[in-house]
Amino acid sequence: MASAPPDAPGPGGSAGEGGDLLLDIDGLSVQFQSEGRVFRAVEGVSLQVAKGQALGIVGESGSGKSVTARAVMGVLPRTAIVQGSMVLAGTQLVGLPERRYRALRGTAVSMIYQDPMRSLNPTMRIGRQLLEAINAHSEKPDRARARARARELLELVRMPAVEERLRAYPHELSGGMRQRVMIAIALASNPALLIADEPTTALDVTVQAQILDLLDALRRELHMALVLVTHDLAVAAERTDEIAVMYAGRIVERAPTATLFSSMRMPYTRALIDSSPGADSEPHTPLRAIPGRPPIRGAEGDSCAFLPRCFHAATLEAEQREHCAAAVPPLSADGSHEVRCLFPLDQTVGTTGSNHA
Ligand SMILES: Nc1ncnc2c1ncn2[C@@H]1O[C@H](COP(=O)(O)OP(=O)(O)OP(=O)(O)O)[C@@H](O)[C@H]1O
Ligand SMILES: [Mg+2]
Repeated sequence: MASAPPDAPGPGGSAGEGGDLLLDIDGLSVQFQSEGRVFRAVEGVSLQVAKGQALGIVGESGSGKSVTARAVMGVLPRTAIVQGSMVLAGTQLVGLPERRYRALRGTAVSMIYQDPMRSLNPTMRIGRQLLEAINAHSEKPDRARARARARELLELVRMPAVEERLRAYPHELSGGMRQRVMIAIALASNPALLIADEPTTALDVTVQAQILDLLDALRRELHMALVLVTHDLAVAAERTDEIAVMYAGRIVERAPTATLFSSMRMPYTRALIDSSPGADSEPHTPLRAIPGRPPIRGAEGDSCAFLPRCFHAATLEAEQREHCAAAVPPLSADGSHEVRCLFPLDQTVGTTGSNHA
């Protein structure tokens, strides 16, 4: 099972503190239209990331994590309808022309993509791929300087035998080393914010931990903010200051990481933890999946999206369940802890009593 992170919020501290705010997402919605139908992939998401802070975005497959990340990067397909506000380092991203976006991607934000189409080119040496990334961010590429920078980037990601790796093709590298190269490419632009979308899903557990530790170390060394997107709550537990849990396109719980683990309130988050493999679980242990499936989202929902799968709702009175079914619960805040549930769990993790009279 996941445990609370060993130390209190990292150098970034709270995102709300004045001049430290780097990314401010307010009421972000992303819809896709096909064959006259509207699909709400992301609905009313608000998030803040401070300089140097690590934010985890966690949720099951299809919950809208990558769509949120890609919205910030400005790489959604043209068919996507993006509404709301996203301000990155003082620039409004919604409606930003592609030319200006390209400049921002060269300085402010970079992403490690989940999409294998955007991973390394199998026919090109690692060195060439790094040089392309480096030159993409400079006005007048200088060959000698770019080569030195390529070496420096591989050293930064703790790549062994740098010279040899620069001449290698991707298939000559292990999965972990390929991911180090992907991180080096993402760092070529010196981003203030790095978004890592499932950066370790394809790797085995030991390598996974090494890559996550590397991202954590780089964040501190480079004073960079990190958005870590993962379906695994245990992964986010140890390397973030704050966690936002997404379900069916919405944030359903959000809190400083330590608070989330000491006083989890949303039944969905609890179910997610129970289905997480965890860092200390035995290999080959079968996962306990959350029963049922996330809803198909079309028109505006009129109940709590988690209700059909909610173990906690089963313990409530029929009249209380009617409230859950009557409307999408609002995201209500208790200090820095937000929860989208009318009958949240008691403060102590593991109990399922209702706080409502
Ligand atoms: N280009 C698109 N057109 C239509 N629907 C899309 C598009 N991209 C994503 N979606 C839908 O939006 C929803 C959210 O997708 P998203 O990729 O954000 O999920 P996710 O949380 O990243 O899941 P996973 O853990 O599987 O990566 C999904 O139901 C997906 O099918
Ligand atoms: Mg995804």
